[in-house]
Amino acid sequence: MNNFIFQNSTQVYFGKGCVKEYLSCLTRDASTLLLAYGGGSIKKNGVYDEVAGILKEAGKTIVEFSGIMANPTYAKVKEGARLARESNVDMILGIGGGSVMDCCKAVSLAARYEGDIWDDFWARPGVIETEPLTLGVIVTVAGTGSECNGGAVITNEEKKVKTGRDYPKLNPRFALMDPSYTYSVPQRQMVSGSFDILSHIMETYFSEPNEDNVSDDIMEALMRSVIRNLRCAIQNPEDYNARSNLMWDSTMAENRIIKMGKKCDFQCHNMEHQLGAYTDCNHGCGLAVLHPVYYRHIYREGLSKFVRFAQNVWGIARNGKTDEELALAGIDALADFIKEIGLPTSLQELGVSDQAMLKEIADSCAISPGSYKKMTPEEILEILNECF
Ligand code: NZQ
Ligand code: ZN
Repeated sequence: MNNFIFQNSTQVYFGKGCVKEYLSCLTRDASTLLLAYGGGSIKKNGVYDEVAGILKEAGKTIVEFSGIMANPTYAKVKEGARLARESNVDMILGIGGGSVMDCCKAVSLAARYEGDIWDDFWARPGVIETEPLTLGVIVTVAGTGSECNGGAVITNEEKKVKTGRDYPKLNPRFALMDPSYTYSVPQRQMVSGSFDILSHIMETYFSEPNEDNVSDDIMEALMRSVIRNLRCAIQNPEDYNARSNLMWDSTMAENRIIKMGKKCDFQCHNMEHQLGAYTDCNHGCGLAVLHPVYYRHIYREGLSKFVRFAQNVWGIARNGKTDEELALAGIDALADFIKEIGLPTSLQELGVSDQAMLKEIADSCAISPGSYKKMTPEEILEILNECF
């Protein structure tokens, strides 16, 4: 196993009723809160009323920051930072999924930072001395695991770049996670969010080291859990146990634990982020199109791990198959699962109509040093064309 340092500073409050039980205590130091959310789902499902009621009863001043879009933009981050500064906010409370949480993390830093946060943070990774504003989150959809990491994936529309990195200072101080809040997530979003969880695990699993290590064992259990519980939640969207497992699978995939001792790949994420920057596609749906094609390009270089994946995740018996046949059977099982849960299998199905744009996307993709097979812009273009 490779050397590592582990820390995660987010406090998690998990389970039915956790907001009612803990929110007032967790916000006791704040007098003015930036209440941040997306396009309004929380007003329809009652979460907004519940949260606002608790804050008002505690005598807090609420400053609303709404309309955070899927794939949040740098312009939206600047809007939130301005609002937080002008209103002397002393805590941000984000309610939503990855887009809201990521935007809030970015606002928490931008509100305190004097310079241009894009040029000095996203475009030039390094340490920033500024202490971000305190952030707490209430998670309403499982998928990104953003609640327990320092990642803030932001799209700079002008520069056509979507990027993020795990910066520990941006970990939320607390995360409230009530699985019953996810009952109202539309099936398409639940499925794409669940595929994002699976993708985070696969992007970590398919990387060195390949020898026996506890992270790979945990990941196999997590992948089986996502597959099993997603099937249950599709059958019954109000299956509390399935929603709980998916919500915690999502956190476990991105709270750094499974990355310990692993090199990590994330080449599919690099490709999807640029696809998102050019087309604004749904993150989980973009990943679903890319994964099987990418894996058919790299499985030979990571053969032993692809054999394990087929056997331990999909339960495929050897029955005389060679290693190569088993590895390919595991990738086929993944592709079949993507079809079964109704996710797109081609870029055209995803809504991409301009094949000529793919070269620009390929040329602007970051190349992962952790891939079993180091990509080139030419091979990324080949993959994108095969996905088309
Ligand atoms: O905006 P509202 O009206 O709230 O609706 C949202 C949105 O339309 C809806 N939704 C959320 N909770 C709901 C609900 N609808 C009904 N009931 C509820 N309880 O779901 C839609 C999607 O929300 P969004 O936050 O965009 O989805 P997701 O959690 O998948 O986040 C995607 C963003 O996170 C980034 C992605 O790139 C993308 O920008 N990522 C962040 C990561 C991180 N910070 O660690 C890692 C990921 O790999 C990813 O890159
Ligand atoms: Zn993701």
